[in-house]
Order: sequence, then C-alpha cells, then structure tokens
Amino acid sequence: MTHLQSRKTALITGATSGIGFHCADLLALKGYDVVIIGRNEAKMNKAKALLEKHPVQVHALLLDLTQADSAQTIYDFCQQKQLHIDILICNAGMYMVQCLADTPPKEIEKVVNLHVLNPSLLCHYFGKHMKEKREGHILIVSSLAAYTPFPTLSLYAGSKRYLSHLSHAIRSELKPYNVSVTNLCPGGVSTDFFPTIGSVIRLATRFHFMMTPQKVAQKALKAMFKNKKKVTPGFYNRILIALIPLLPQCIIDYLHTHTSFFSNQMDYEI
Ligand SMILES: NC(=O)c1ccc[n+]([C@@H]2O[C@H](COP(=O)([O-])OP(=O)(O)OC[C@H]3O[C@@H](n4cnc5c(N)ncnc54)[C@H](OP(=O)(O)O)[C@@H]3O)[C@@H](O)[C@H]2O)c1
Repeated sequence: MTHLQSRKTALITGATSGIGFHCADLLALKGYDVVIIGRNEAKMNKAKALLEKHPVQVHALLLDLTQADSAQTIYDFCQQKQLHIDILICNAGMYMVQCLADTPPKEIEKVVNLHVLNPSLLCHYFGKHMKEKREGHILIVSSLAAYTPFPTLSLYAGSKRYLSHLSHAIRSELKPYNVSVTNLCPGGVSTDFFPTIGSVIRLATRFHFMMTPQKVAQKALKAMFKNKKKVTPGFYNRILIALIPLLPQCIIDYLHTHTSFFSNQMDYEI
C-alpha cells in the first residue's frame, strides 16, 4: 500500500446507521476522508449523501461482512483506490437470540465471520500497515454482553467477548509502534439493532438507561484519540459492568428457564 496520500482516512464497518454512522459523521467533521461499509443500498446512499455535506471524500463499499472473504475485499478496495487507513473502526454487528443447538450452522458461521474472522483480518491487514507507519488508531466495538455468559446469547456474547480480548491483546502488541487500540463496550443504545423492542427503547432512552448513538460515538472517539484501553459510555452501564460478573449463574439460569427475559420477545414480555 502506498504512503503517498496526505489526507487522513478512517474506515468504518457498519457505517450506514447507528454508532458506525455517527463515528463516520464525527470523523468527517474533523476532516477525515471516510470509507464506509454496509449492506443496505438505500441506507448506504442516505449515509453517503449526509457525509458528503462535509468537505471530505466518502468511499462507499456495499458488502456483506458475514462472507468469509470480505476483509480481503475491503483491503483490495483500499489498495485499488490507494487509500491509506489511519483509523480502523470494527463496528458492524448482528444480534442473535437463540439456543445454540437450535441455530442453523450457516447462521453460526455468519456470526463468527462478522464478529470474529473479519474484524481479526481487518486488524491484521490495517494494523500491519499502521505498525509500519508507526501511527494509527483502531476502535473495536464489543458489548456489555461480553461481561458474562448469557443463555441464548452464547454466540453474540461469546463473540463480543472475543472482540474485547482481541482488542486488549493487540493493544499491547501495537503499543510500541504508536498505534492505539481501544475497546468500546456499549450498553443499550437507541438504534435499530434490536428490531423487536421499539417501545422499550423509547422508554429506556427517556430515562437514560439507553444512550443515543451520537453520544456513544462521541465518547468512543474521544477515548480512542486519548488512547484509552476501553470505554463504556454511560453511568448506569459502568455500574452494570461491575455488577454483571457478580450475578450468580443460577439466577441467570433461573431467568432463562422461568421467564422470557432472554427471548427476543422483549417488546411485550419484559
Ligand atoms: N444498540 C445497542 O444497544 C448495542 C449494544 C452493545 C453493542 N452494540 C454494538 O454496536 C455495533 C453497532 O450497532 P448499532 O447499535 O449502531 O446498530 P445498527 O444501527 O443496526 O448498525 C449496525 C451496522 O452494522 C451493519 N451491518 C450489520 N450486519 C452487517 C453485515 N453482515 N455486513 C455489513 N454490514 C453489516 C449495518 O449495515 P446494513 O444495515 O447496511 O447492513 C449497520 O450499518 C454492533 O457491533 C453492536 O453489536 C450495540
């Protein structure tokens, strides 16, 4: 990859909406060119048009990151356009609530590719380049769910746990090369991420149990530029981080067996 380019560029996966879009927007406001990745063409066009209101270059790539070869496709795309990536944000994610034994193998593969394989490969490709250049920032989006094993969230929480560990480990590996790695662990964020809980989202946001994606993106980028190891925006979420690991597994198992707490029917059964 060439080092000729003088403008700074940020690459954000899952930038067509939510936290990813707001990260792209804030970085564009700071003058970064952005590479935005997502699957939905209508959302992508809208996001691109909004980002182009800033005087920066916006490179849009429509891609399904559940495909095993998508990190390579992204890397080739950047090489072809001679883009040097100064900031990598691995944000794209999918929510899945299902017992593992009932999950079709193809769906398992998709979560693993999206949350494990592709972020790891992106950190490899772009981390290598940042290491050579001795500068760069990586932000990896995990979740509060990574803090303890939840039934029916085995794949989601397990893969988010992987992302947290990956982030902390490569942070140490890249530190001597002036490359920062930050792990974002959001709690509830009022985005389209949980399609079934619209009314709960509105209520939770009103009472500050859920945060807006703008606020989360703002806090995340601030932590990233300050070279913080991890960031969990929101007072309640920081309390939860301390409390969740203390929850006895028997209580979690009781909730799983006797309530619909760990189902995706939360809109009417909470
Ligand atoms: N919302 C929360 O409460 C919450 C809590 C903790 C952690 N998080 C994490 O935050 C991250 C962002 O979520 P969000 O809340 O901002 O949700 P969102 O608004 O639904 O955004 C998700 C983004 O990821 C993209 N994406 C999803 N699957 C993809 C795929 N297979 N290939 C390419 N792009 C894909 C979506 O793009 P397209 O729609 O264009 O495909 C979209 O741009 C996720 O990793 C999530 O796990 C969210």
